[in-house]
Amino acid sequence: MADPAPIRIGVLISGSGSNLQTLIDNCEVGFIPGQIAMVISNNPDAYGITRAQEKGIAVKTINHRDHPDRDSFDLEVGNALEEAKVDLVCLAGFMRILTSSFVKRFQGRLINIHPSLLPAFPGLHVQQQAIDAGVRFSGATVHFVDEEVDTGPIIVQAVVPILPDDTAKQLAARILVQEHRIYPLSVRLFARGQLKLKNSHVQIVDGGADPDAALINPPFPH
Ligand code: GRF
Repeated sequence: MADPAPIRIGVLISGSGSNLQTLIDNCEVGFIPGQIAMVISNNPDAYGITRAQEKGIAVKTINHRDHPDRDSFDLEVGNALEEAKVDLVCLAGFMRILTSSFVKRFQGRLINIHPSLLPAFPGLHVQQQAIDAGVRFSGATVHFVDEEVDTGPIIVQAVVPILPDDTAKQLAARILVQEHRIYPLSVRLFARGQLKLKNSHVQIVDGGADPDAALINPPFPH
């Protein structure tokens, strides 16, 4: 496959920005054929802003508290992304629900990462939800954003065993490690044109497969 033209990526954050950092790092090493063109935070205190500034990446704070309603906030965010000529918008620890007009404006080039195996455990406190449900696995999901919350077509997932006596914090930390792997992989696949949306399912062109892969929790005794 001929090398695709590098894509311009916009990243929306609200907090630490560890997923932003992994996207920055993977663009730098060329795993993602692209560049972070714009970072937007709704939270002026987000550490992710510092991460962007350290790399000389354009960053804007658009505080939702300065807007009378969601439409007005989303319009300013959308305009800033369009001005930056982004090809893909990545929600990375972004804690605002986006309006359907924003989703329509970026449909097909708007993705999100969620720390559970969707459709299981949408919403918040998902690691505790998984522990409370007594399931043996949780994980992370990267998906296209549609007009509902945490329901769009799934791109990549990683599965993480839940250990006896796991706290939500411990589980979240192990899931985060996998988030930092599957988000760059998802953006790479998008940038290389390997994602085909068909009847709200994502087909991955030349994505490879491991038919013998399986995880068992608890593991078989050695
Ligand atoms: C991550 O678990 C992400 O899945 C969730 O917010 C957490 C923090 O993300 N949406 P980040 O460190 O701000 O990227």
